Amino acid sequence: MEQYIIKGGNPLVGEVEIGGAKNAALGILAAAIMTDDTVLIDNLPDVRDINVLLEAMESIGVVVKRLTRHSVELHSEHIGEVSVDYEYIKKIRASYYLIGALLGKYRRAEVPLPGGCNIGSRPIDLHLKGFKALGARVNIRNGFIVAVADHLHGSHIYLDTVSVGATINIMMAASMADGYTIIENCAREPHVVDVANFLNSMGANIKGAGTDVIRIRGVQKLHRTDYSIIPDQIEAGTFMFAAAATKGDVMVKNVIPKHLEATSAKLMEIGCEVEEFDSAVRVVATKRLSSTNVKTLPYPGYPTDMQPQIGVTLALADGTSIVTESIFENRFKYMDELARMGAVVRVEGNTAIITGVEKLSGARVCAPDLRAGAALVIAALAAEGVTTVDDILYIQRGYEDFDGKLRSLGAEIARVDSEKEAKKFRLRIG
Ligand code: UD1
Repeated sequence: MEQYIIKGGNPLVGEVEIGGAKNAALGILAAAIMTDDTVLIDNLPDVRDINVLLEAMESIGVVVKRLTRHSVELHSEHIGEVSVDYEYIKKIRASYYLIGALLGKYRRAEVPLPGGCNIGSRPIDLHLKGFKALGARVNIRNGFIVAVADHLHGSHIYLDTVSVGATINIMMAASMADGYTIIENCAREPHVVDVANFLNSMGANIKGAGTDVIRIRGVQKLHRTDYSIIPDQIEAGTFMFAAAATKGDVMVKNVIPKHLEATSAKLMEIGCEVEEFDSAVRVVATKRLSSTNVKTLPYPGYPTDMQPQIGVTLALADGTSIVTESIFENRFKYMDELARMGAVVRVEGNTAIITGVEKLSGARVCAPDLRAGAALVIAALAAEGVTTVDDILYIQRGYEDFDGKLRSLGAEIARVDSEKEAKKFRLRIG
């Protein structure tokens, strides 16, 4: 099993290029099957979640042509199956986007019910409520969600909770329903807007994405498009916190600074300098950072996917910080690992109380999930000594060439998959 071995202590300095947004790409790839024409998608991140979704799409008959590492051509005119295999949904929950896409195009979808996930219970009741409101009969049969509609029609849907997944899934199905749909209390995340823009580029008629009311006039057919995915705000934010925690100076390139406002604001509050350019942000930290309080919220609030990255950074800040997780109930598992590196933390329900220490020390830790795994790498980069991070498969789900990008900023990090390689790296770093 692959691991990262990291020798901490080097401030990260230099420039890093951010890839396409994984969470936008998951919705966009699924939506691409809604036309029989050829779709070209560019700025696709080469990460595990995306590659698994492409395999799931191939398994139902989509022809996937890799043009380059970051662009793909999709042909969906020969989809022979509307039933997706459990193998894929086990690996990535977001294959549930295929329900909205298949239901919209073929009026039928069979997708396994996603299992539990390690950041808390993640129901999809709102997705199903939306499909039912559009006229689908939705049943759970042998572990599958079977959604069938004789007539898919527009509807007025109110989402009880702000949900990215439900907003995107319902938006896709409604794009090809007959008539007019209004979705209220929508998620406003940049990737919701990107999926809407993508659907519109195929001829859909979606208005209001990015606000909390989305209005959709259904169309009968969608057509070909060429589309480039927005930059990944979470990958960008992760490098911004890596710069902060290591007292570095990093220019994070190929970003949309507006999407990073909540992250930039927190970094400035704790004592970093953040400079915005047209498509880049520079983060400089020269002194010990100070404590703060933060609560995760739907966009434009502080993202839950950036909670572990600020959590590990605050473990080194001057003073006591309170981090409140209000989206998922189980996102503090990394705190036990962080404590093994010398952090002083206490978790009470959905709150973590972090008393900053002057130094963290290297230890063997386990990545509990994608973002927490990346955050532990940040902690390791800032710590004294050597840290080994296990279970990095989680990190590879969402970060392309994470270790390579960090090395280009001066980090001493190696990805190893044998004891021999680990020993060799340890000897080299002394
Ligand atoms: C997406 C992101 C994930 C991010 C999350 C919140 C993707 C592929 N994943 O996940 O990285 O952490 O948004 O920004 O884009 N909920 C319900 N019923 C539902 C759906 C959601 O109660 O039917 C609840 C969830 O339990 C959670 C909240 O709504 O408490 C938000 O979840 P949601 O926005 O749906 O997250 P995902 O789309 O799964």
